[in-house]
Amino acid sequence: MKLDRKTEKDVSKLSQTRFTSFDSMIRFVQIEITTVCNFGCFYCAGREMPQRHMKPALFDKILASLPDVRLTISLQGEGEPTMHPYFWDMVGKVVMSGKSPYTITNGSNIDIMRTVRLFPQIGVSLDTLDEDEAKRIGRFGLPGVLRNLEQLIVAMGPKRIIIHSVDYGQPLEALRSYVQGLGISRHVVQPIQPKADYSLRYRF
Ligand SMILES: C[S@@+](CC[C@H](N)C(=O)[O-])C[C@H]1O[C@@H](n2cnc3c(N)ncnc32)[C@H](O)[C@@H]1O
Ligand code: SF4
Repeated sequence: MKLDRKTEKDVSKLSQTRFTSFDSMIRFVQIEITTVCNFGCFYCAGREMPQRHMKPALFDKILASLPDVRLTISLQGEGEPTMHPYFWDMVGKVVMSGKSPYTITNGSNIDIMRTVRLFPQIGVSLDTLDEDEAKRIGRFGLPGVLRNLEQLIVAMGPKRIIIHSVDYGQPLEALRSYVQGLGISRHVVQPIQPKADYSLRYRF
């Protein structure tokens, strides 16, 4: 496959990367596979970025460049990973390379059976249980997201699911009780990012 100039430059930079002894401490690698998303969260830096998916050839290069040690590879990005047309191919390649796949999804588009089969753990983002508030902040279709999450719990159990929430000042009690009630013990609540390149889209 012929790579475009930007991808060729990225690949060439990557092939100059050398893993040092410090890198043997690394257990978690994030590969940012897309900026494309079907949601419009007000706090998301990805909405201002060029909308594009990583080329499969670049993904293959990155995966091949990683050291042969136990690693979790998070397929991520300032976009929705499951929107990448080769998402499941990439997950399969991570598994075939002997590494552990992870992703955080907005929950709108979950392939339950493939998730159960290929992901030891998966992250689902939820910021509120209030449908109007979810719509207001750009997390659309909350009832569908909750339905997908609950089906996923039936299929893979609550221990393999991590809920990720952004604390932007909204009430969180109802959400915390819901997550606990589902039997999910890992609920990561992180404050809204104060970094300048993110907070261009919001004020504190
Ligand atoms: C960038 S998203 C990509 C995955 C997927 N689209 C989703 O929303 O779950 C990954 C995680 O980062 C969080 N996130 C995005 N922008 C943020 C910000 N400005 N501050 C804190 N967390 C943020 C999202 O809520 C999500 O849990
Ligand atoms: S769902 Fe994820 S990628 Fe999409 S807009 Fe929200 S934070 Fe950004």
